[in-house]
Amino acid sequence: IDPTIDLVSEINRLKKEKNAVILAHYYQESEIQDIADYIGDSLGLSQQAAKTDADVIVFAGVHFMAETAKILSPTKKVLLPDLKAGCSLSDSCPPHLFAKFKEQYPDHLVITYVNCTAELKALSDIVCTSSNAVQIVESLPPDQKIIFGPDRNLGAYVKKKTGRDLVLWNGACMVHEIFSQDKIEALHEAYPDAKFIAHPECEDHILAKADYIGSTSGMLKFTIEDPSQTYIVATESGILHQMQKASPTKTFIPAPPNNLCACNDCPHMKLNTLEKLYNCLYYEQPEINLAEDVILRAQKPIERMLQISA
Ligand code: 13P
Ligand code: SF4
Repeated sequence: IDPTIDLVSEINRLKKEKNAVILAHYYQESEIQDIADYIGDSLGLSQQAAKTDADVIVFAGVHFMAETAKILSPTKKVLLPDLKAGCSLSDSCPPHLFAKFKEQYPDHLVITYVNCTAELKALSDIVCTSSNAVQIVESLPPDQKIIFGPDRNLGAYVKKKTGRDLVLWNGACMVHEIFSQDKIEALHEAYPDAKFIAHPECEDHILAKADYIGSTSGMLKFTIEDPSQTYIVATESGILHQMQKASPTKTFIPAPPNNLCACNDCPHMKLNTLEKLYNCLYYEQPEINLAEDVILRAQKPIERMLQISA
């Protein structure tokens, strides 16, 4: 790549030329968020992917998100800046093992968190995100038996909130399980007026201390509407960019991780760079392609989610 190239103006030019749209998750690096046409949480991003009239969707996020966009808009070209941008939570639930797990509960309905492969979605009855998981479980009859996967922490949170007895798959996100309760408590003592906000992918003992629990969009909205001046934020640190932009006078502190980790960055999300974004728009690859039968089977549970969340 020519080092003198102005990546931002070139990306904007290519976007117009190719009728492309850039959808970015809040965990992307700030430069990518700033050039995106839409920034959002997993639900918002899938709603955008379903309704866009662009010919090309550049998904600045991770593989399962780009797959979801392809499932919802199969005739569009869906690009992911780095094909290696995976997800530890999605990896924690291989579809062939989940299919065996599901066989043990033949009378259960399967709800899967969107952070999973297209294959896994194809094995599901309804997909959910962190912003609608409670609503989706509550939309089902109280006696409905449910398997919930792959995130054990979101599953435990939904169980607590709804009082339903969900059968949980034992998966987790590597980023949301790094937080140190002791360090968060020490930080809270140093900033007694700070609100502690957390994503429901965090472990129960962390969520127990939270003033607010929600998806990335939910957390951002909370910091805009809440009158406090300081927040300790337990999720991937990319979200702090939008929080700081929306509330420039407030202070946002990433919740401290344990001694094994230096920061709250998701190594998968952070594989995408502005340079890779430019290359992928220029060369129109890497492209996400899925087998037609997987698209058809995975479409139903995602569309069911979108209808319930409309
Ligand atoms: P949301 O943005 O939907 O809260 O998802 C968080 C996440 O971990 C995505 O990988
Ligand atoms: Fe997956 Fe966790 Fe990274 Fe989200 S933050 S992409 S759930 S590993």
